[in-house]
Amino acid sequence: MENWIEKIESARTLDELESIRIALFGKKGALSKAFADMKNVPPEEKPKVAKELNLLKQSLTRAFEEKRGELEARALEERLREEALDVSLYTPRPESGALHPVMATMDRIIEYFASLNFSVESGPLVEDEFHNFEALNLPDYHPARDMQDTFYFKDGKLLRTHTSPVQIRTMMAQKPPIRMISPGAVFRRDFDLTHTPQFHQVEGLMVDEEGKVSFANLKWILEDFLHTMFGDVDVRFRPSFFPFTEPSAEVDISCIFCKGKGCRVCSHTGWLEVLGCGMVDPNVFKAVGYENVSGYAFGLGVERFAMLLHRIPDLRSLFEGDLRLLEQFQ
Ligand code: PHE
Repeated sequence: MENWIEKIESARTLDELESIRIALFGKKGALSKAFADMKNVPPEEKPKVAKELNLLKQSLTRAFEEKRGELEARALEERLREEALDVSLYTPRPESGALHPVMATMDRIIEYFASLNFSVESGPLVEDEFHNFEALNLPDYHPARDMQDTFYFKDGKLLRTHTSPVQIRTMMAQKPPIRMISPGAVFRRDFDLTHTPQFHQVEGLMVDEEGKVSFANLKWILEDFLHTMFGDVDVRFRPSFFPFTEPSAEVDISCIFCKGKGCRVCSHTGWLEVLGCGMVDPNVFKAVGYENVSGYAFGLGVERFAMLLHRIPDLRSLFEGDLRLLEQFQ
């Protein structure tokens, strides 16, 4: 037999070792051939030759297994080295989107009222004069319409100037009791530091049998709402006028920037106006065919809330889509 032990030991790869295995241990391999040649050995020598052959086979097998173990370990080591991950390597995080601060603020407001079982209603952005003005006690000769100038279409329709028309639609479609809010986009002919032609409102309405809904109820819920949104602030109600409510009030919170001491944001008054509200005017109930009911209503601008909550100085920056601002809200 050639020196197979040496051959096995000099194999450099598992492939090489496999060729040796076939040539040595295979069916037509050297060992099989050596055993077959036993037939030519004289009978008296057979036991001795067989014993030698078996010993040789044993030591070849041992050498082979040893070599295979060694080559497999080396191959594994090489693979681990090649496939190793450097976990300390810097990889930039994928950028993820986020809710716009105005929408996130709107969600917080909706969450508060939804938790008190107010239904969330919506309506068309393109409205008619009846739902946007007339039914809200704003006849076409009334000067209060001037504060809510808007874009008119040729067919007399208009871009809604508040979400109050949703309250009209809901009252006409349902029967009292009603407990609803109407969040959504609204439009006005305005553009300066604190006004944009499109902005968002959440308005609320509660209607029940005559005498069941009072100004005290309105005051309690708005105070609780403002404390939930702004924390420990003072809240005051100021008499005001809206065509669709009587009596009406505007609601202020103590300035969250100067804690009521007076600063530029609150025009040195110590107060920030955040809401309009009042008891629903009887003319509004008449327009929707309701009798013997009472109710309160309120409305707020979502952008103003977002600006105050996040201390954003210019309202217009909320609509510019500037990533340097938006990325701060992820
Ligand atoms: N609709 C009013 C506005 O847009 C807000 C408001 C709603 C005021 C309900 C009072 C009561 O200005």
